[in-house]
Amino acid sequence: MRAVVHDRYGPPTVLRLEDVERPVPKVDEVLVRVHATTVTQTDCHMRRARPFLWRFMLGLLRPKRRILGLEFAGAIEAVGAAVTEFAVGDRVFGLRNCAHAEYVCVRQAGLLAHMPEDATFEEAAAVCDGMSQGLAGLRNGRVGRGTRLLVYGASGSCGTAAVQLAAYLGAHVTAVCNTKNVELVRSLGADEVIDYEREDFTKNGATYDVVFDAVGKHSLVRSRGSLVPGGLYVATDRLYNLPLAFLTRWLRTKKVVFGVSGYKRESVLLLKDLLDAGKYRAVIDRTYPLEDVVEATRYVESWQKTGNVVLTVNGGRAR
Ligand SMILES: NC(=O)c1ccc[n+]([C@@H]2O[C@H](COP(=O)([O-])OP(=O)(O)OC[C@H]3O[C@@H](n4cnc5c(N)ncnc54)[C@H](OP(=O)(O)O)[C@@H]3O)[C@@H](O)[C@H]2O)c1
Repeated sequence: MRAVVHDRYGPPTVLRLEDVERPVPKVDEVLVRVHATTVTQTDCHMRRARPFLWRFMLGLLRPKRRILGLEFAGAIEAVGAAVTEFAVGDRVFGLRNCAHAEYVCVRQAGLLAHMPEDATFEEAAAVCDGMSQGLAGLRNGRVGRGTRLLVYGASGSCGTAAVQLAAYLGAHVTAVCNTKNVELVRSLGADEVIDYEREDFTKNGATYDVVFDAVGKHSLVRSRGSLVPGGLYVATDRLYNLPLAFLTRWLRTKKVVFGVSGYKRESVLLLKDLLDAGKYRAVIDRTYPLEDVVEATRYVESWQKTGNVVLTVNGGRAR
């Protein structure tokens, strides 16, 4: 099968298509023919091995796992003998390492679910990563009904997910994005939208229970004045937030919490329900064929994408 591989850490040009062995499903696994996958910021961190800490997981000198990619949507081509929940031909989506390939094997009890009836493969591939990260951040921020929440970076993959999920949870959502995305973010359920090109939310006097930095470009120091006493700044990036989270944990003042996403099966299943009920939607900026993975990755690394960037495999399929 064809897959995107890399043998060293570096810029997007280290990625190339290569023929590799097709994985064989174990007894409790399904073999998925991938129709769509995505390029995420996580793929980019792993490919660059930045921050350096990634190397302790991925391989000190070179990547042990040659294929990147996390999100996928496709159709089941084969099932292991112990698989009962899925059958050949089922349309499925989820999260699995090595998704930048024509096939992936996924445990039936893993991060896998049947696709929502009306979703395209592109849409189903573009929801799990941002949603998992958004949900983790909202949970860490203890966001629920009535929470006054500000989402900074509301137009990204995590940001568009956080806005939708927070609205679903009943929070009062103020979203911060640039002019071109104001209407999109409002349509996702934000109660108020601040266009950062016209207004600095840290200077308008409004305060929030939680500031969720969904893009990892803000800080507790800059957003302190916008938090109520005891308010939480939820970080998604920047390692210095880890010691800050530890230090501020014991203080009765404004705190940092670090929203690392542990990918969970229950999140994928919740997502399927929300998509089925029309309470969540995929936000897709651009779609590239798998062959253009370098170009797609460059675009993701520009930090300008709105929502998600999809890769279609063998032309993808609309349904
Ligand atoms: N903790 C975890 O487990 C985990 C998992 C995955 C990802 N992450 C991290 O989460 C962060 C977000 O990832 P993502 O995939 O959601 O990012 P993304 O989709 O690539 O973010 C792009 C968006 O961010 C906005 N943006 C860029 N720079 C900005 C700035 N300085 N101020 C405000 N908005 C800005 C852009 O909007 P404009 O056009 O308005 O600039 C664009 O819409 C990343 O740092 C990633 O590493 C963490």
